[in-house]
Amino acid sequence: MDRRLQRQGLLTELAAAHGTPLYVYDLAAVRRNLEPFECFDSVRYAVKANSNLAVLRTLRDGGARCEVVSAGEIERARAAGFEPDEMVYTADLMDRSARELVAELGLHVNAGSASMLEDIAELRGAVDVTLRVNPGFGEGHDMKVTTGGPHSKHGIWHEELPAVRRRAEALGLRVTGLHVHIGSGLEGRFIERTVEAMDPAVALFGETLLRVSCGGGMSFPYRPGATPFDMQRFAAIWSVGRERWSRSLGRPIQLEAEPGRLLVADAGVLLTEVCGVKSTGREGSSFVLVDAGFHTMIRPLLYGSFHRISALAGGDRPTTPKMVAGPLCESADVFTQGKGGAPEPQELPDLERGELLVIHDVGAYGAAMASCYNSRPLPAEVVIHPDGSTLLARPAMDPNQLLALEQEALG
Ligand code: LLP
Repeated sequence: MDRRLQRQGLLTELAAAHGTPLYVYDLAAVRRNLEPFECFDSVRYAVKANSNLAVLRTLRDGGARCEVVSAGEIERARAAGFEPDEMVYTADLMDRSARELVAELGLHVNAGSASMLEDIAELRGAVDVTLRVNPGFGEGHDMKVTTGGPHSKHGIWHEELPAVRRRAEALGLRVTGLHVHIGSGLEGRFIERTVEAMDPAVALFGETLLRVSCGGGMSFPYRPGATPFDMQRFAAIWSVGRERWSRSLGRPIQLEAEPGRLLVADAGVLLTEVCGVKSTGREGSSFVLVDAGFHTMIRPLLYGSFHRISALAGGDRPTTPKMVAGPLCESADVFTQGKGGAPEPQELPDLERGELLVIHDVGAYGAAMASCYNSRPLPAEVVIHPDGSTLLARPAMDPNQLLALEQEALG
């Protein structure tokens, strides 16, 4: 956790100036998070984790390329200054909006389904492509983010690759990249197995292969005391694979990493105001009611993900286990829940209305997954520049803008 995001005075000022709920990102931390990836030949940021323009610019200035998955992300990446040849469009299907931009900008495609090869050839002619391989197994912090194995919709099933090679050749496509991403929140149990699983694919496409991407998915230690991801071990095991492939093919194969979470998770906090407290009088049922909800940050509801919550004016006050819940008219609107919605209260002091809580490590898949449920606004986002100055990088989206469009439509 970065020092700037721990500065009580600064966060209090930001909440007073811009209201809550409020995401605050430390761009210096984003930039620093690139450092552990220097051991790879290239690092490609998965824009879906946090697509705020200021964050994208910071990563671009730091030398990252980017991975985009929709027309909207392509537009954002362009606005952040990424050149088309610094982007890879990853998908398992080509929707109409992306087709146009892929063709217009000449984007390199990472195809997650064999059926995309015809689309690519039709849109772009005989070009270079990357294939996303489903190696037959996966791993993740939750079933919902496991992206390998027979029940995943992602990637080209490993046994299909020989047929895919014939299909690509017939279309004049050159397979220059292979990519594997078995899930998000990897503990590292399958690194060797994943590298080995790429051996047959590398041999099959060896004539044209230039690059192997080991994907992203490196886990972040959300819980206090959790073990940080062992990047050195991860990179070392992949480098052994890279050396083996380079030797057998007689030319250097580039190794690319494609992280999202690890570049941004700890660079963001969510500030939320206490609007009330209540209790049913039973143990573990003391509720702190706040103005952020799962429309602001959905990870606890969706995956039972843990995010540490603290009182901004912490002090030495005694604490008790408390539930923290949002304003939505839905009982699942609780930040302190584990898998399946099990209550997981956190230690907090007794709080007054108007106090601020900090929800930690929300830089990844926080604002990016926010919604307007219950006709509430998308949250505002503030950035702290490396020189310490702050900027409201995205104002909260007023749901009345949508209302106005509907009123106009209905006349
Ligand atoms: N590359 C590909 C092809 C991906 O699908 C993803 C994530 C990444 C890279 C980056 O993975 P990361 O390093 O961020 O784990 N909403 C979920 C995570 C979904 C990940 C989707 N794909 C969450 O909040 O945990």
